[in-house]
Amino acid sequence: MGFRTAVLSIAVLLMSGLTAEAAPSIPRCLACHPAHYRDRGGCVDCHRGNPGTERIAIAHDRLIAARFSYFTLGDSPVVAQGNTLAGTAGCRRCHTIGGKGTTLASDLDRLAGNARPEDLAASIQHPVAQMPDFHFGDADTAALVNLLLCESRDRLKARAEEPLIVHFENKQDTENIFVKACGGCHRALSAREGGLGEKDSGPNLSALLTPYYPLGKELPAKDRAWTPEDLEKWLKNPRKQRPQTRMPPVSIKEQDLTRLKEILSVPPSLLNPPVGSQNSP
Ligand code: HEC
Ligand code: HEC
Ligand code: HEC
Ligand code: HEC
Repeated sequence: MGFRTAVLSIAVLLMSGLTAEAAPSIPRCLACHPAHYRDRGGCVDCHRGNPGTERIAIAHDRLIAARFSYFTLGDSPVVAQGNTLAGTAGCRRCHTIGGKGTTLASDLDRLAGNARPEDLAASIQHPVAQMPDFHFGDADTAALVNLLLCESRDRLKARAEEPLIVHFENKQDTENIFVKACGGCHRALSAREGGLGEKDSGPNLSALLTPYYPLGKELPAKDRAWTPEDLEKWLKNPRKQRPQTRMPPVSIKEQDLTRLKEILSVPPSLLNPPVGSQNSP
């Protein structure tokens, strides 16, 4: 009798030990996959998915695929590569990434955390009309998506919910000075009038007069941001600055020039970090 009770209680102890600890925390992912990065977290911490089932379609719900998972590793060279690409492409002249940039288009820190990585990749490779087509290949696109996921994960936690700014496709105002004088060769996303211009033979000039426009490699702005004076000089005689340029001189009235500078700037309310926020923690 005493022996049987002892065996039973050992069995009960063993079973309760199992149910209390191991069973709920073993992800069913392991039925099909070997474990890896065990010391860095659970499968769903890095890949999302549903760990409570062996039905693959449900287990892979909202899965973050391997090529988009590098951002979970911390200090990943893939994220660094994404950041370099975002800088040379000038993503931040229209978007906020990692707390820096404008919100002429979506704040990607807020968006990316809830998006499917595949959708982010598709938005980059098949951009809407007012976003330039950078012709990124799959590896560069995945690097950019890793950057977006990394930054949004870090910032979503820190940020309170704010209303999203919604942009509507608007009919072009043919009296607008940018549409009239520049829109045949350039586009620009502006704070007040939305997307202006309709051709891409010249670069996309969104937020030209902010630090987020890609750094110039040639005059008049060389390795620094464009200033209103640079723009004025450039319009008068582009060839004086760049002998090989395909842009013709454009003559513009003083008051139109003021409007142009306004269109190619971004108001402080749409700049990140907000002006004066440097002191906040
Ligand atoms: C029933 C088996 C099964 C289960 C359960 C399962 N997987 Fe998978 N998983 C697969 C198979 C098969 C593939 C390869 C084919 C594919 O991508 O669908 C795969 C692929 C993957 C990939 C690589 C996908 C890519 O395109 O990079 C990841 C990451 C992954 N699974 C994570 C998980 C995680 C996390 C869980 C648990 C939440 C899980 N899987 C549960 C069978 C399973
Ligand atoms: C710390 C983050 C992290 C954790 C935790 C993690 N993974 Fe991954 N996983 C990655 C990364 C990054 C890759 C990309 C390839 C690599 O680095 O091995 C990846 C790739 C994969 C792949 C693609 C095949 C391969 O090995 O390249 C599968 C399947 C997968 N993980 C399943 C899982 C499962 C199942 C778990 C839970 C046991 C898990 N992962 C835990 C980050 C993680
Ligand atoms: C000239 C402005 C401009 C530039 C530069 C730009 N984008 Fe966009 N992007 C847009 C607009 C406009 C949209 C459409 C939705 C919106 O308003 O955000 C968009 C949408 C997106 C989306 C989808 C967001 C959503 O709402 O679903 C992603 C992801 C994205 N861009 C990433 C990038 C990346 C990465 C870069 C740099 C390589 C970049 N963009 C450069 C204007 C721009
Ligand atoms: C006939 C077509 C055409 C018109 C009209 C035109 N541009 Fe350009 N623009 C170009 C081309 C092409 C380039 C690229 C020049 C180069 O590679 O050196 C360019 C370059 C620029 C640049 C330099 C950008 C950079 O990143 O280096 C600025 C600034 C600019 N244009 C502003 C304007 C403004 C403002 C207007 C309207 C007042 C305008 N352009 C009208 C064709 C045009």
